[in-house]
Amino acid sequence: MARNAIGNGKGIRARARDCRNRGLKPGVAANESSLYEQPDLYEAAFGSVADAEESAFYMSFFAARSSVLVSACGAGRVSRALAESGLNVSGFDLSSEMVERARRNDQASRYTVGNLIDPPFPGSAFDGAIVPLLGFAELSDEADARRSAFALVERLRTGGVLLLEVPVCHNHRKLQGLSETFAFEGGKYQFDYQGAEESNDLFTVMHFEISVTKGKKEARRSGMVAVYTPAGVRTLMESSGLCDVRFHAPYHRGTCCTNPPSDCLRAVVAGLKKP
Ligand SMILES: C[S@@+](CC[C@H](N)C(=O)[O-])C[C@H]1O[C@@H](n2cnc3c(N)ncnc32)[C@H](O)[C@@H]1O
Repeated sequence: MARNAIGNGKGIRARARDCRNRGLKPGVAANESSLYEQPDLYEAAFGSVADAEESAFYMSFFAARSSVLVSACGAGRVSRALAESGLNVSGFDLSSEMVERARRNDQASRYTVGNLIDPPFPGSAFDGAIVPLLGFAELSDEADARRSAFALVERLRTGGVLLLEVPVCHNHRKLQGLSETFAFEGGKYQFDYQGAEESNDLFTVMHFEISVTKGKKEARRSGMVAVYTPAGVRTLMESSGLCDVRFHAPYHRGTCCTNPPSDCLRAVVAGLKKP
């Protein structure tokens, strides 16, 4: 795979190694309080359960299916909504704080701490698997992304559906300096796309920073996010054993997508496990 350095800083592999050597979780700088270790703030911004519209969006992929693996499930926002819609749900997340909150919010489902690059629940033949809201895009190393996609497909039965929500963009320069912000009761959420770091045939890796403030409380997260090209995410999914790969506009953006998306910030990309 071709790999081009874009930024002037040290490469992502070196940064990840640096993080590990200093005993830090990826994406968390020494002086930061990570958003993903503060479920209270996360839920203040995003809610503790997906609303009816978002839930219906995901259920449109899972109709007539019964078991679903929700990966990077966070505090269980989406997994809980799917369980309440009648699915048999298993979920995992890297953050033990988030998993604890998911268990508390949704006692009908099973939750465990786990990593996307080596997902738990081996041998389960799930009808569906989903990585909602950019968890997958935080795998900014190409080998990790490939390994994770392959392992998630392995968790499916033949014909099972995998949904990945990732940023998809033909031209990462459009993202440079772009922000997503919204206000919630008593607080504000902000996501900034910062400079590009590195590019390969699948994606461009962008620096990002999230901040959530509520009253005097504040949580930040900075790290790297993989912004896929349409061809890149299609190739990733097809080479992991999926067919019928299609792009969908996420429920919260009405403006894109064609197939493949022409000018799109986020897409939910779906594929079916091949026999
Ligand atoms: C934006 S949150 C989304 C949470 C949830 N899916 C939702 O929709 O509210 C991203 C989540 O990905 C998790 N995450 C990041 N990297 C991960 C990894 N390698 N394995 C598992 N979870 C990961 C974080 O801990 C965080 O809970």
